[in-house]
Amino acid sequence: MTALPVDPMRPEPMRVLRVTRETADTVTLELDARARGGFPFEPGQFNMLYAFGAGESAISIAGDVDRVKSLVHTVRAVGAVTEPLTRVKNGDFIGVRGPFGRGWPVAEARGKDLLLVAGGIGLAPLRSAIYEIVARRDDFGRVVLLYGARSPADVLFARELERWRHRSRIESLVTVDHASRSWTGNVGVVTSLIPRLAIDPERTLALICGPELMLRFAASALRATGVGEERIFASLERSMKCAVGLCGRCQLGPSFVCKDGPVFSYDRVRRLLEIREV
Ligand SMILES: Cc1cc2nc3c(=O)[nH]c(=O)nc-3n(C[C@H](O)[C@H](O)[C@H](O)COP(=O)(O)OP(=O)(O)OC[C@H]3O[C@@H](n4cnc5c(N)ncnc54)[C@H](O)[C@@H]3O)c2cc1C
Ligand code: FES
Repeated sequence: MTALPVDPMRPEPMRVLRVTRETADTVTLELDARARGGFPFEPGQFNMLYAFGAGESAISIAGDVDRVKSLVHTVRAVGAVTEPLTRVKNGDFIGVRGPFGRGWPVAEARGKDLLLVAGGIGLAPLRSAIYEIVARRDDFGRVVLLYGARSPADVLFARELERWRHRSRIESLVTVDHASRSWTGNVGVVTSLIPRLAIDPERTLALICGPELMLRFAASALRATGVGEERIFASLERSMKCAVGLCGRCQLGPSFVCKDGPVFSYDRVRRLLEIREV
């Protein structure tokens, strides 16, 4: 795992190099990591991003591990911190603490088939894993990406999805909850695509990311195809404060999502996710 920063509680100001508007409520922020000699991380890890004057939020790193000089996050505006984060401009500064947590088991997946299932902003935490798979494509077997968005206008990284499909042999299927007139693709929840795939459950590792209800339905559909819970990996979201396992805010049963996750094998967390109050 990537080492913790020297003082993991102190946000480091980093300059915004580029802001890309992805959808009406979502932007990608590229931060300049050159002054600090790069920002190494592992796919699936997250940072605490500090909007000065507003507060901090946990946001996954959505960039390429091989391009450490810039640090990339995709943020959806949902509230008090993420709203101002999506309004920053080139040249502004935001605070960064991290990287934190345990990410996707990409190394473990070598030689196997991979099924990635993402819902909404859940494609952002998977993007760094996809870059890693694309860079080392021949190390993996069949790779399938299922992605569900609310509407065609909410589809993230549309051009990259095409590129991954055509150039990197990533079979991708996109579905939307509500179609527009021009939409010719799938309509319906992303988990409904799982039974349609002829996957080899013995060879497959599944990486899933999205709202918790989607995770539960995805895991159940995967189990029905024969994929064992120990081969399903889910990135969990919990409200976070310290991000280093000290404050207890993100506790899930005996685990801290910030330190022991956010990526967990499903056999470790299924029972806890089924208890609503945990
Ligand atoms: C490990 C991890 C990685 C994440 N990666 C991303 C990412 O890449 N991009 C992204 O846009 N978001 C990501 N999130 C979610 C993000 O942290 C929350 O959307 C954010 O903290 C909301 O803060 P806010 O102050 O803007 O909203 P608030 O004003 O606090 O709340 C707005 C609404 O969001 C709900 N909410 C707040 N925090 C969370 C949370 N952590 N989980 C679920 N619901 C929450 C509240 O109940 C409320 O309904 C991640 C969360 C975690 C834990
Ligand atoms: S956020 Fe403090 S223990 Fe996880």
